[in-house]
Formats: sequence, C-alpha cells, structure tokens
Amino acid sequence: MAQSRKKNHYRILMVTTEAVPFAKSGGLADAVTALAQELDRAGHDVRLLMPRYYGIRRDQLFRFPSPFRVQIAEERYETAIYEGRLPDSEVVVYFLDHEELYGRDGIYGVEGEAFDDNLRRFTVLSHAALTLGSRLGWEPDIIHSHDWPTALVPMLARRKRIGAAQPATVLTIHNLGYQGNYPVGMLPETGLSWNELSESGLLHHDELNMLKAGILNADMVTTVSPNYAAEIQTPLHGFSLDRVLASRSDRLVGILNGVDYSLWNPELDHHLDVNYTAETVTLKERSKSALQTELGLEVSNTLPLIGIVSRLVPQKGFEELLAPGYGALLVALAEMSIQVVVLGTGDPDYEYQLRRLADRLPNLKAIIGFDDGLAHRIEAGADFFLMPSRYEPCGLNQLYSLRYGTIPIVTRTGGLADTVQDITPEGGTGILLDHACPNEIIKGILRAVTMWTESPNQIAAVRRAGMKERYAWESAVGHYLEVYAKAISYRVSV
Ligand code: ADP
Ligand code: GLC
Repeated sequence: MAQSRKKNHYRILMVTTEAVPFAKSGGLADAVTALAQELDRAGHDVRLLMPRYYGIRRDQLFRFPSPFRVQIAEERYETAIYEGRLPDSEVVVYFLDHEELYGRDGIYGVEGEAFDDNLRRFTVLSHAALTLGSRLGWEPDIIHSHDWPTALVPMLARRKRIGAAQPATVLTIHNLGYQGNYPVGMLPETGLSWNELSESGLLHHDELNMLKAGILNADMVTTVSPNYAAEIQTPLHGFSLDRVLASRSDRLVGILNGVDYSLWNPELDHHLDVNYTAETVTLKERSKSALQTELGLEVSNTLPLIGIVSRLVPQKGFEELLAPGYGALLVALAEMSIQVVVLGTGDPDYEYQLRRLADRLPNLKAIIGFDDGLAHRIEAGADFFLMPSRYEPCGLNQLYSLRYGTIPIVTRTGGLADTVQDITPEGGTGILLDHACPNEIIKGILRAVTMWTESPNQIAAVRRAGMKERYAWESAVGHYLEVYAKAISYRVSV
C-alpha cells in the first residue's frame, strides 16, 4: 500500500466492540487488547477502532477537529473521531463518537435485553472501518474484525475491491453462539442493496445473519482454540453454521488465546493484599481468608472454596447449576461441606435465582455485578474455579485460575479441553467434566472435595503444575502473522 514501512511489518486495523480498559463484557475485551499490544511489541503498526460508549470519558482523548462522515446508502451519520492509546503501549485507539448510537449505558444492551438498534449501531462502525484509512492517510494492510458486530467488514471490503486495492480481511469468531440474526426486511440498514443480498452471504434460513456473511467473505477466518475450530464444523457445536464453516475449512484456523501476565499474575496483582509465587503458594491461604472476610463467609481453611466469575448465560452452564429443584449448585451446597462464591451479571432470571439461593445458604455468596478487582481476588482466594460450560470457544478464566494455583473444574469442550489436563495419579492440572449436566458437575465437585480433604499433597502438586503452565500471547501472535500473510496473498488473487 501507499506508505513505506518496515519489511514484513503490517498495518493492522482491529475493529471491535470491546477492549480493556475501555469497555468489557467478557474475554473478547481482554483478548483484543492483549493481541494488539503483543503485535505492537513485535513491531507492527496496529490500531483499534471501537465505539465511544457513554462510559469512555472524552476529556482524556484527542478529538479530531473535523467531523467524520459515514455514508450508508442514503443515510449520512455525522460522527467524530477521538484518539487515545492502549495502556503501556503505542497502540492507537480510534473511538467513533455518535451520541444517538453509542451515548448510552451498556455495550450490547441492558438487563439481559439487546438494544433494538444494534444492527444500525454496528453497521455504522463497520462502514467507518472501511473509510477511516483514507481519512487518516493510513491505509491498513489488514482489517481484523471480531465477532458478528463487525462481521460485515469483509463483505464491504470485497465490494470496494473492484478496481482498487483494499485491505485484506480477517474475521475472528470468539463465540459462534451470537450471530447477529435480523429480519430480511432490515437489509437496507446494512447499506447493501437488494441486488446484493444473495452474493453477500447474509441470507441464512430466511434471516440476515451477519456472522455468516463474515465467514463467507473474509480472506481468513480464525477462532480462539484449535479444538473449537474443529467443533464448530460439526452439527453439535455449529449453531447451524457448521456446513458454512466446513465449506471454508481451508481458510479457518484455531489459535489459542493467551494471557496478559502483566495483569493476571499473583506475583504482581495489585488487587491482592498478599502476593504469592509457586514457591510461596501457601500464602494463597491469606487471599482465601481475605476473600472470606470481604464477603462475610466463615473464615476457615477447612472448607474448600469454589469460585465462579462469569457472564450469567446458558453457555456457562447456569441452567445446569440452577435447574429448579435440582440445580447442581443447590445439591452440592446441601450435601457437601464447601463454600461457593459467584460473581456475575447477565440473565435477570439467573441473577434472581442466585440472590434467592444466597439469601438462604450461608455458604453461598452471590455478587451480582461487574467488578474487575473482585474477579482477581476470587481467582486468588478460591481453591477451585468452576466453569461447567456447555461450550467454550477458548475461556480465559481457567487460564487465569491455572496461574493463580486455583484448580479449574471445567467441561471437556472447546478451549477448556485444550488447556486443562484431567488429574490422574501421574499428573494433571484440573478436573474435567464429560458434559455440562447437573450429575457431572456434582461428581466433579465431589472429586474436588475428596481431594481437598484426603490428599493435600496432591492438591499442592496440581497447583504447582498449573502455575507452571504458560499461555503467552507471543506464540499466538506468531500464528496470527501466518494468518495475515495468507489473507494478504488471497486478497491479491481476488
Ligand atoms: P467469556 O468471554 O465467554 O465471558 P472468558 O473466560 O473468555 O469468557 O472471559 C471472561 C472474562 O470476563 C474474564 O476476564 C472474567 O474475569 C471477566 N468477567 C466475567 N464476568 C465478570 C464480572 N461479573 N465481573 C468481573 N469480571 C468478569
Ligand atoms: C468469547 C468466548 C470465550 C473466549 C473469549 C475471548 O466470549 O465465550 O470462550 O475466551 O471470547 O476470545
């Protein structure tokens, strides 16, 4: 492209709806920021584009003096661009500012309800990604979109390519469970004409499907673990897109997320009163008693403490944990001597059930809300971390747990199966459940409790093994660079 740059160093524009520390609902925010920072460290010119949500303060950002117009068919949006930086890096973040579209609380919705103008909100963001480069005099080599909200970008890029070089496109699927399905009648909101409907790849089972268009038009598609890349090509985990994904298997790569160990590390974590290493892991007990005191649990090291930090949605196994009358959580708490701490927000029904259970069970604490500091303290203070997910593209919490010496109890699915080895007499790092079902969860908790009471040496060995594991972004970046190179070579041949 136009500007000179170091050989083999790319200009990458990441288009995203979340990035720490600016906006986060789950692991997407952690993954995008850490990937961008690592690419920056490797010498690439990587920049982010995301909405300026209401909570992102404008007074700390630089505002581009002139307005930035986004034209979508007949509609014109007068937006502004603000510029900031990711912490501890040179990564530039462009914030798309438009009061009506983004000036409100919530990223995708509030109280479990999606905003009904999300298609428009994220379409404007996607169109902006295509024109930002020429406006800045900085044309990216690659536009890297994440999940359905920005999955229109590859289609838009492909359409612009006729007669002019355009960026190559990469789409990362962090979660196939969210596809952006809308009635066909809403097509005009995407800026595409009716003539373009069939070639756009948007149509799926008589609806618009944003993710499908992304999968079919991107030069390369990635997802966040090798196992999930295989699973989503099967009917069980394909959420009706398995055949579409299988048709692009030559362009689909699973790259395991990493961990930002400058943030998630018990040796350095500033959210903890007492830091610890693998050698001083007995100090972890102090994090446990601090957590018990903070939350009003009985302070004791006799009972194992099980932590959950999660979006409260069916994906994470809350149907199985809370099923009326037979919720695994209820049975485990009634029958076993354990303490449980749950931190989460999401489905109002799960929030209500958790609050009600916690009101009557002194060994259960349910904190309904989003609290990053408490998430860190739970990782450090818990003995076990429970993630009975129905499916899990990668999962970051189990990786954080390993680093904190907190033994993960996870379903054998997606990235969980790629990163946690079931405990056997020979070794292992966690407890694997064969399925997300109440029986399996109870069995897993029983294994944990038995090990806790009968085999402290084994607990110590498993902790040490987990704390030694490393999931560095550096190695993920190597794989992304291969993907970018392929995307560029495919783009040239379009
Ligand atoms: P997902 O992206 O599917 O939600 P991950 O395990 O990849 O699952 O990432 C979840 C991330 O969100 C972790 O960093 C976790 O600590 C954080 N998180 C989830 N819910 C909360 C909450 N209520 N408060 C604080 N952090 C949370
Ligand atoms: C998604 C997935 C989760 C993954 C995260 C970051 O939200 O549910 O498994 O770790 O994205 O890629």
